[in-house]
Amino acid sequence: MTEMTPVTDATAAQTPTQPPAPRKIAVPDTQTVTQVTHYTDRLFSFRCTRPASLRFRSGEFVMIGLMGDPDPKTGKQKPLLRAYSIASPSWDEELEFYSIKVPDGPLTARLQHIAVGDQIILRPKPVGTLVHDALLPGKRLWLFATGTGFAPFSSLLREPQTYEDYDEIIITHTCREVGELTYGRDIIESLKTDELLTEVIGDGFWSKIRYYPTTTREESPKMGRITDLMRSGEAFSDLGVPVLTPETDRAMICGNLAFNLELKEMLEGYGLVEGANSDPKHYVVEKAFLD
Ligand SMILES: Cc1cc2nc3c(=O)[nH]c(=O)nc-3n(C[C@H](O)[C@H](O)[C@H](O)COP(=O)(O)OP(=O)(O)OC[C@H]3O[C@@H](n4cnc5c(N)ncnc54)[C@H](O)[C@@H]3O)c2cc1C
Ligand SMILES: NC(=O)c1ccc[n+]([C@@H]2O[C@H](COP(=O)([O-])OP(=O)(O)OC[C@H]3O[C@@H](n4cnc5c(N)ncnc54)[C@H](OP(=O)(O)O)[C@@H]3O)[C@@H](O)[C@H]2O)c1
Repeated sequence: MTEMTPVTDATAAQTPTQPPAPRKIAVPDTQTVTQVTHYTDRLFSFRCTRPASLRFRSGEFVMIGLMGDPDPKTGKQKPLLRAYSIASPSWDEELEFYSIKVPDGPLTARLQHIAVGDQIILRPKPVGTLVHDALLPGKRLWLFATGTGFAPFSSLLREPQTYEDYDEIIITHTCREVGELTYGRDIIESLKTDELLTEVIGDGFWSKIRYYPTTTREESPKMGRITDLMRSGEAFSDLGVPVLTPETDRAMICGNLAFNLELKEMLEGYGLVEGANSDPKHYVVEKAFLD
């Protein structure tokens, strides 16, 4: 016969003479930082554990953050959360984020100091428009980014569906300075030895990627805003592709507001129509940050 172990209630077992256990602040949705990499004094990336229940589509964003300072009146702490694109692909067992460091930014002034083993808050409700479902089938996918707008594309570039759905993927990344391109360049370089993509798509997948980095305020092999380089035709001749058409081309845009608006207008001029999750079309757009 199996001996039954009595179920004990630790609270009930306390005698009235014992001091109450210290009250722990319940912080739901915490994840543990597993890796931090700094690129410049304004940019870093980090990885953290992934909740087992979190499902997301490559390209989506979530709310992440830290506990805020205690309210001087009540002493209560509230989570300080901001929108962040998930930079890792949907199949990855961890999560990756690529972040700005705003010197006086409420969140990033502190977030930039996180270290391995620290906890961050992650609200597991992924949303976003930069997803394959929001685009109609096409031949060539353009991913247009400025600054940290590269983050959702870091996810999509590591997603097998990107290579299953398109013959060619062109990623443009415009930053002020050369050092701000490092994260994106490293991700693209790492694709060459990505075992999952090679296994699922085959050796040839790498030849589908065209990387077009440009800088605007520091000398580099290709200077200028991508919008200007497209308007002059230089970007198309460099890449050896024709101007975008709704028949063959699909696009995703993620950058600052002025960039998004300028590029939207250009794509509409080429005849492309904006899509959404519920109404897939030729291009989609998302802000890399609120201005
Ligand atoms: C849909 C969405 C997705 C986002 N994804 C990311 C992401 O993947 N990585 C990321 O770093 N940020 C991302 N952001 C911005 C992010 O939500 C915060 O604004 C950022 O972390 C700064 O937070 P903060 O509290 O320090 O400063 P905030 O008070 O939020 O911002 C202060 C100022 O800093 C500037 N700023 C904020 N974010 C950026 C940025 N990313 N690049 C350049 N300047 C910026 C703006 O001028 C802003 O007014 C995203 C925003 C949105 C709306
Ligand atoms: N990056 C830095 O070193 C730095 C330093 C101090 C403060 N800041 C502040 O941080 C904020 C964000 O800076 P950020 O550099 O991360 O992002 P950003 O200002 O959005 O610039 C990123 C890139 O996008 C380009 N761009 C801007 N508008 C465009 C448009 N309409 N069309 C095409 N390209 C466009 C910029 O070119 P241009 O250079 O031609 O604008 C730059 O190469 C700004 O408010 C800035 O004042 C940044």
